[in-house]
Amino acid sequence: MTQVFSRIAGTGSYLPEKVLTNDDLSKIVDTSDEWIRTRTGIRERHVAAEGETTSDLAYHASVRALEAAGVDAKDLDLIVLGTTTPDLIFPSTACLLQHRLGADGCAAFDVNAACSGFIFALTVADKFIRSGAAKTVLVVGSETLTRMVDWTERTSCVLFGDGAGAVVLKADSEAGILSTHLHADGGKKELLWNPVGVSVGFKPEEPNCGVRINMSGNDVFKYAVKALDSVVEETLEANGLDRHDIDWLIPHQANLRIIEATAKRLDMPMDRVIVTVDRHGNTSSGSVPLALDEAVRSGKIQRGQLLLLEAFGGGFTWGAALLRY
Ligand code: UT7
Repeated sequence: MTQVFSRIAGTGSYLPEKVLTNDDLSKIVDTSDEWIRTRTGIRERHVAAEGETTSDLAYHASVRALEAAGVDAKDLDLIVLGTTTPDLIFPSTACLLQHRLGADGCAAFDVNAACSGFIFALTVADKFIRSGAAKTVLVVGSETLTRMVDWTERTSCVLFGDGAGAVVLKADSEAGILSTHLHADGGKKELLWNPVGVSVGFKPEEPNCGVRINMSGNDVFKYAVKALDSVVEETLEANGLDRHDIDWLIPHQANLRIIEATAKRLDMPMDRVIVTVDRHGNTSSGSVPLALDEAVRSGKIQRGQLLLLEAFGGGFTWGAALLRY
């Protein structure tokens, strides 16, 4: 029996129109363009308009990915959507997206792995294809993270932005996705979390009912660098590859200094690393597919090249995917 792999047939992404620069932020909180750029590499980020939701961003990114793949939404067997900022508690954002795309009937669900959401969603989709349970899958990472930002808190509000990316995966006899590697450590939940919810309860006395990102930036930074180092090693080892075999690193875009640390570990010059954090900020699940799509459309990434995708986020969660584009 021939082995089945999943291949990326097309990519797409979408950013909301409104741009918020560092200078704009310095008018709201006690910060500066200089501090934000030197500590994070971020210059600006996109912010969803009032009423514009995670499923709206997902829809635009998905339409572009389907077009690029030459796939009709009706032919999708599955939609897996990574998000930590769903439109509603339920139905899932994947179900809302499915209906808008006109793909009613196929399976559709969300994956919440915070900033690692896209890598987790991609892994699930890959397993469905490898097992023969699906042939054509839409994988999305979409977020409106600015909806849970406390705009009075300078340590976190400067970091995040909104956006979405999507890929269409198709079953193929040639790889494709070579391997994926996922991890989590729930013991560190309080270092990066949003501490309210349906079951725990909301805090009506607090702004936004207590919905806000809490982060111990420094601790997250150190843990993220180590975790990403280790998952990148694990991925290379699992495939019997040398770090010099990778053509492009497509990292989660949280902080340029974290990205540079991973690139250094791989001995990769920064011109082989896709960087969008300067213009997008941290878009959580949206960041890796946004970076991938931008690099594909700009002509940087070519068919046949070896790509290493990685992400780290709240949970903690982290993971990597190695694929031949
Ligand atoms: O996507 C999920 C994963 N998330 C991440 O990977 C984020 C990881 N963490 C980070 O990227 C960095 O830790 C931050 C960018 C969040 C912070 O950078 P840092 O170099 O770790 O700064 P720090 O938190 O140690 O703060 C240094 C100083 C403090 O002042 P003092 O105590 O030295 O006087 C902060 O109060 O910078 C101050 N500060 C700011 N100053 C101006 C913190 N935020 C700001 C700000 N503007 N926005």
